[in-house]
Amino acid sequence: MLRSRLRPLLLLVGFGAGAALASCGRREVGPTEQKPTVTKPVIPPSGPIPFFVPDEKGIPDGELGARIRRGKQLVTRTREELPDYVGNGLHCTSCHLGAGTQKNAGPWVGLLGMFPEYRARNAQTNTIEDRVNDCFERSMNGRVIPKDSPAMAAIVAYISFLSQDVPKGREIEGRGFPRLKPAPKPDRERGKGVYATRCASCHGAEGGGLSGPDGAYTFPALWGDRSFNIGAGMARLHTAAAFVKWNMPLGQGGTLSDQDAYDVADYFIHQPRPDFAGKANDWPKGGKPEDARY
Ligand code: HEC
Ligand code: HEC
Repeated sequence: MLRSRLRPLLLLVGFGAGAALASCGRREVGPTEQKPTVTKPVIPPSGPIPFFVPDEKGIPDGELGARIRRGKQLVTRTREELPDYVGNGLHCTSCHLGAGTQKNAGPWVGLLGMFPEYRARNAQTNTIEDRVNDCFERSMNGRVIPKDSPAMAAIVAYISFLSQDVPKGREIEGRGFPRLKPAPKPDRERGKGVYATRCASCHGAEGGGLSGPDGAYTFPALWGDRSFNIGAGMARLHTAAAFVKWNMPLGQGGTLSDQDAYDVADYFIHQPRPDFAGKANDWPKGGKPEDARY
């Protein structure tokens, strides 16, 4: 499965580099011959792989390249592009920052080779498509997209592009939102104050975010009916605190103390937000984390 997805991609990238070499020294080159040389990461023989950002110059021309670019468009403009499947005001990249290329912000770099992966939440081995759909149902408070749809193919093509240099089964540093240890005991009342001073200027005093004249969110909602539902990973204390610690306020990741991150996370996750209809089916064989919401 993985190999059949990656092979055409690698072939095309190889072809692009060949064309670039062949065109060396010529002054007039056609658009397909202009593929620039792409810097590849150095993968250590074992152990964790240092985080890197794949070079978009390596996106091939042709059908596959178009699919990868479409995938990027879908994850960055999810609400506008897939309105039937999104039930809130978010884009995938409201949480997976930098279009999935940011360390400690749910990166998709090097992710494909980690799937299929067993997850206790549904007690099944999940494919990358299952995992994407989990975020549609929960983080986007929406509906699953058909696994054989062009939209799913495009999103997976984009994740494959970001993963092409990382060998299967090898994890990259900065995957997910690394947990804070030891976890401080949260003080929700104090968190309300942290919210007012460090977050409200962008996310709004009432947590509803701020949308531009076209209805698109400039600053996404943190609670209310335009936010993620209680089945989402972000509704869990340890995940939300880690996301906030590493990434918020936007552009100032790492500036809050662990205590502030826990306090403010405990505050905003417990504000009113959509319920999740499928919650009764979660953790059917146990393994429920202590910060689960139900
Ligand atoms: C409200 C925030 C939020 C939004 C919006 C969101 N996600 Fe996620 N996503 C998460 C969290 C939290 C995790 C779990 C990370 C962890 O386990 O540490 C996650 C995990 C993932 C993973 C697995 C990552 C891994 O390291 O295993 C994929 C793939 C993914 N999301 C894709 C998407 C896609 C595609 C969309 C849009 C349809 C989306 N997400 C929207 C919060 C979000
Ligand atoms: C300077 C503006 C700004 C400030 C201040 C800020 N954020 Fe954000 N935040 C953003 C933007 C913009 C995004 C979406 C990122 C994107 O689209 O690239 C975001 C995304 C988020 C998300 C994930 C998406 C969602 O809506 O659920 C959470 C959670 C979050 N911020 C929490 C916080 C918390 C808590 C604070 C205060 C400690 C904070 N932010 C301060 C701008 C800000």
